[in-house]
Amino acid sequence: MILQYLLDYFDLKSWLIFLFVFFLLIDIIRNKNPPNFPPGPWWLPFVGNVFTGLEYETIDKLSKKYGDVFSLRFGSEKTVFICGYKMVKEALVTQQDSFSDRPLIPLFDKIYEGHTLSLSNGYLWKVQRKFFITHLRHFGEAKKGLERSIQQECAFLCEAFKEEKGPFDPQFYLNTAVSNIISALIFGHRFDYHDERFLNILRLDTEAIALAGSFQAHLYNVFPRLFDYIPGPHQKIFTNYGKIIEFLKDEVKRHKENWDPSDPRDYIDAFLVEMEKKKSDPEAGFNLDTLVLTSLDMFEAGTETLTSTLRWALLFLMKYPEIQKKVQAEIDRVIGQSRQPSLADRPNMPYTDAVIHEIQRMGNIAPLGLPRRACKDTTLGGYFITKGTSIFTNLSSVLCDKNEWETPDTFNPGHFLDEQGQFRKRDAFLPFSAGKRVCLGEQLARMELFLFLSFLLQRFTFSPGPGEELSLKGQVGFTNTPRPYRICAIPR
Ligand code: HEM
Repeated sequence: MILQYLLDYFDLKSWLIFLFVFFLLIDIIRNKNPPNFPPGPWWLPFVGNVFTGLEYETIDKLSKKYGDVFSLRFGSEKTVFICGYKMVKEALVTQQDSFSDRPLIPLFDKIYEGHTLSLSNGYLWKVQRKFFITHLRHFGEAKKGLERSIQQECAFLCEAFKEEKGPFDPQFYLNTAVSNIISALIFGHRFDYHDERFLNILRLDTEAIALAGSFQAHLYNVFPRLFDYIPGPHQKIFTNYGKIIEFLKDEVKRHKENWDPSDPRDYIDAFLVEMEKKKSDPEAGFNLDTLVLTSLDMFEAGTETLTSTLRWALLFLMKYPEIQKKVQAEIDRVIGQSRQPSLADRPNMPYTDAVIHEIQRMGNIAPLGLPRRACKDTTLGGYFITKGTSIFTNLSSVLCDKNEWETPDTFNPGHFLDEQGQFRKRDAFLPFSAGKRVCLGEQLARMELFLFLSFLLQRFTFSPGPGEELSLKGQVGFTNTPRPYRICAIPR
């Protein structure tokens, strides 16, 4: 009877109003926060705070209003943001068992389908992480092989800089140089700086990472089913990754052709050996898909991060020439001009070490880290966070926390020096994050930053190209990168 009444008396307009109110009520009921959930701004029905975006500067502003633990709603997903050293440390270290999972990120899930270390959870993540650590050690750190291959790459990079007679943009040289270190680990060889096929892969990768930080990519993550059918930058990301994956598949194929299980040359060979051993344990993920996608993962993690950091480094050194001179003076005193820098020099170069740390602090290349997920119901900062909630730890707010740093917004290597001019560690230095899912490449990254910068400053003085305005304002995408600039590398 009620239905008959509705059909008789409702015209189209009334029906539309009725349906809107009906779905609105469902949306409100379904998305009601549990008691004591972290506060946050009002959200729009159906879409939540999707237009707030994910830029770390916006997140910083919101934390001033709502506190160090607050929430936003993207579509129907609740996301909690954790800010400031005290709260971030509590989440990443003290309560690491509550926040060590990754949420599903539709954009990356479409590419990786869970077959990768940095985005997986549970047993697969544990086994792959252990394998990664063992083999990074085996092929690099323990054998000193990695140090030698970085030194060799530094020499190639210096040669390439020397050949440039006028001002130039160093981005692609730096990008090729650091990706060659990862290439040596994964593929067992490096690529020439003029290898067009490889340069194209790097261009595709840089473009995909920049697009992954775009607003459309954010929309894709919130409404994946809808945006799958809509053209836009997110589709370009998939095309680019498709091409990179083809390139990696070729490398794996070549390895399989001349593979000797008794003498693994690199990560791919070692993975092929493990695939044989773990045939009876499919849950561990030792298969060809995971191999290709883990290669992509390592390539991603180790290339863009270091390229951006080295680009920030040259930018800060040009902006503060007196600091550049002091690093060069330390290099001249400890290493001189007749031999190449080595890792053994690092403990004797506290000023250079402090400058590198300050570059990482101010460069702030992963402002929100990688997303985490609450693996159980938990309480943080007095708020209740439900199992399954996505979490962002605002690393940027830690690196600039006013309670931790003397001059948080100023480039000041003194942050990392004691009164005697010796290097001092700082607890709030967390560019690599912390806890169970801390960056796996931290040691490798620190080795590369020290060697690349020591080699470059031993051989060159850097200044901006004529008329070049140096901006310290980053371009925030998936990472925080400097804007393009041109340099003059003047041989010393
Ligand atoms: C300056 C350079 C780098 C920075 C600032 C950096 C920063 C980070 C950050 C913030 C995370 C997220 C950790 C978390 O969830 O809390 C991460 C994860 C990761 N990084 Fe790095 N990274 C750098 C270089 C590298 C390199 C060279 C590699 C090695 C190939 C690497 C491999 C990884 C991996 C595999 C993960 C995922 C770990 C996991 O989920 O268990 N990173 N990195």
